[in-house]
Amino acid sequence: MSKSYRLAILGATGAVGTELLELLESRNFPIADLKLLASERSAGRSLRFKGENIPVEPVSDRAFENVDIVLASAGGSTSKAWAAVAVAKGAVVIDNSSAFRMNPEVPLIVPEVNPLAAANHQGIIANPNCTTILMTVAVWPLHKVKPVQRIVASTYQSASGAGARAMAEVKAQTSAILQGQPPVAKVLPYPLAFNLFPHNSPLNDLGYCEEEMKMVNETRKIFGTQQIRITATCIRVPVLRAHSEAINLEFETPFSAEEAREILNSSPGVKLVEDWKTNHFPMPIEATGKDEVLVGRIRQDISHPCGLELWLCGDQIRKGAALNAIQIAELLVEKNLLQPSKAYVSS
Ligand code: A2P
Repeated sequence: MSKSYRLAILGATGAVGTELLELLESRNFPIADLKLLASERSAGRSLRFKGENIPVEPVSDRAFENVDIVLASAGGSTSKAWAAVAVAKGAVVIDNSSAFRMNPEVPLIVPEVNPLAAANHQGIIANPNCTTILMTVAVWPLHKVKPVQRIVASTYQSASGAGARAMAEVKAQTSAILQGQPPVAKVLPYPLAFNLFPHNSPLNDLGYCEEEMKMVNETRKIFGTQQIRITATCIRVPVLRAHSEAINLEFETPFSAEEAREILNSSPGVKLVEDWKTNHFPMPIEATGKDEVLVGRIRQDISHPCGLELWLCGDQIRKGAALNAIQIAELLVEKNLLQPSKAYVSS
């Protein structure tokens, strides 16, 4: 990477935006110019990057002029409003929202899984849902060896998935409860401190919430097959920033835990955490701040001859969002894929 690039972060003041800044600095992404964009609420703020204070600008048409790459993490409606504007001005948008993920013209990329699909972009590349990213990093290496027939996922999702304000709310609720005060829920629908509840995204007619359907539909798109049967139950838990997932996999023929362990031990983006003697397996507290998805408790499913169980934890803000987006940007730069094959036109 000898050239440097003009970047904009849309949603720079949020939980993912903050992580994007930190990762761009620590990974030394080649930056010629950096614009920090957010809402009018952030007018007058500035953020530190490489020892400098960079002012936060309210997003506008002009903000996307002379920008090569936009890292967008300001929610679906903001992406819908601005992605096409940025593309029309010549930028490639790596979008962390769900706005374009299922659009057939928009590649949905996990660099460890389907990097080649990025070459087909038309200006927008979607970053998958966080629970999906973490699951696909762990399941893809096994799927490559023996195709997975069915996945049953149960998630334990941290407050960070609902943004920086939800994280602050859980801290405030915890402190209120410890002082004998009632917890106040404004960002999340119910108190999360000392509690848990099913993910509160909208429910469909079958009783599945949007988050669960993201795991189903996005995983199929990333793996490039509609044949895998997937079901998920997504639960919000009082953890600050790393998600956990219990994954049950069903194959056509038996897949030994030993073989799965060996494969995962050398898979990109995966770190095995398994000490059966001390019961030490992945924990959100140990996944926090790590790039890798921690995987462990790999065992034969005693209820099915071709079933395998595994447990994983991954930093939702990092690999589940900001890191994956930056890895996509690095991929575009390394493979010289910044030029879109044809410009995205919003319908
Ligand atoms: P702001 O801080 O100005 O509200 P999080 O997911 O942690 O809640 O962060 C959301 C990010 O998206 C923040 O940077 C927020 O900026 C930004 N954002 C939210 N709504 C808009 C909007 N309408 N236009 C631009 N940025 C927005």
